[in-house]
Amino acid sequence: MKRFVPLPLKRFIDQLLGLAPFRARVITAEERLQDLERRLPGLQQGLQQELAELRAGQQHLAALEAEITELKAAAPPPAATLDFRNALSHENFQMVRVAVSENFIRGSGIEIGALNLPLPVAAGVRVRYVDRETEAELHDQYDELGMADVQFIDPDVVDDAEELRQFPDNSEDFVIASHVLEHLENPVRAFKNWLRVVKHGGVVYVALPDMRRCFDAGREVTSVEHVIRDYEEGPAWSRSMAFRDFGKIYVAFGMDKGLVEHLHGEARTAREATEAERLDRKNFSIHFHAWTPDAMAEMFLAIKNRYQLSFETELMLQNQDEVIFIFRKTVPRPGPG
Ligand SMILES: C[S@@+](CC[C@H](N)C(=O)[O-])C[C@H]1O[C@@H](n2cnc3c(N)ncnc32)[C@H](O)[C@@H]1O
Repeated sequence: MKRFVPLPLKRFIDQLLGLAPFRARVITAEERLQDLERRLPGLQQGLQQELAELRAGQQHLAALEAEITELKAAAPPPAATLDFRNALSHENFQMVRVAVSENFIRGSGIEIGALNLPLPVAAGVRVRYVDRETEAELHDQYDELGMADVQFIDPDVVDDAEELRQFPDNSEDFVIASHVLEHLENPVRAFKNWLRVVKHGGVVYVALPDMRRCFDAGREVTSVEHVIRDYEEGPAWSRSMAFRDFGKIYVAFGMDKGLVEHLHGEARTAREATEAERLDRKNFSIHFHAWTPDAMAEMFLAIKNRYQLSFETELMLQNQDEVIFIFRKTVPRPGPG
């Protein structure tokens, strides 16, 4: 069979086989110039096309940048984050409270003594506010501390935090008491009642001022024996002692804030005593007790053991000048036998 071999290829094979001589092809400068001139319009056209594509790309990029700027302007501000460079800011303090609340506070419950700083709660959580007095009565009490213009929560229920008479056992998903326990003469009685009204599985949120970081710094730490005696004998024995302590604090605080004139020596001691008596008569809501974080932990554990209380401590967290506790009520274990 005859094979058809294209001519240039046949010549190349012949050259390889030595049947035809190799001939060098010399390209002249003129030919090269002609070749370039021939290709130039094509090259120019290609470059113009690339330039056009580049311009279109630039326009697209500019449009995207404009869209991003627009989206950023319309977007909600980024979620707040803890700012460790400014760890002591009020924003950080509140954010820790919010984080604890969002993690532990669910359903429907009560906050005792919210006053001007109710604990923020997640959407859908229902809170009823409890205080020992109406909003107007709270102002009567607190205005002398320079709080006349501060807005207070108007309580839904007026009740005593130590008793919570209006709340049945196991009725609430949570009880919040932030900076309240130290204001109570009988903290054990109060804590037992907070556990009483919470359902099994519910939580008691307690925040207490760290006495090392507030006006209580100079006082004696409240011991476990003290609160047990308040509970078992009644708190009358320690009341005037607490008001005497608070008389001193009131005068020092008042002098600092310009609410009390500057006094020294006997005049100051006498003023401390009169303020203590006046505030006692007014049944002013003083700090009856003062704890360090260690003393708080010791107290909760001691009363849990002594009175066989059914709860677990799920959180103890220092938040600047306060300590936050989360206690979860558990089902009592059956006793022996
Ligand atoms: C220092 S304020 C707490 C303010 C706020 N919860 C916070 O975290 O800063 C104390 C609150 O406890 C309330 N309180 C004091 N004794 C009470 C009692 N026996 N029963 C109910 N509320 C009481 C006071 O009226 C006040 O609203």
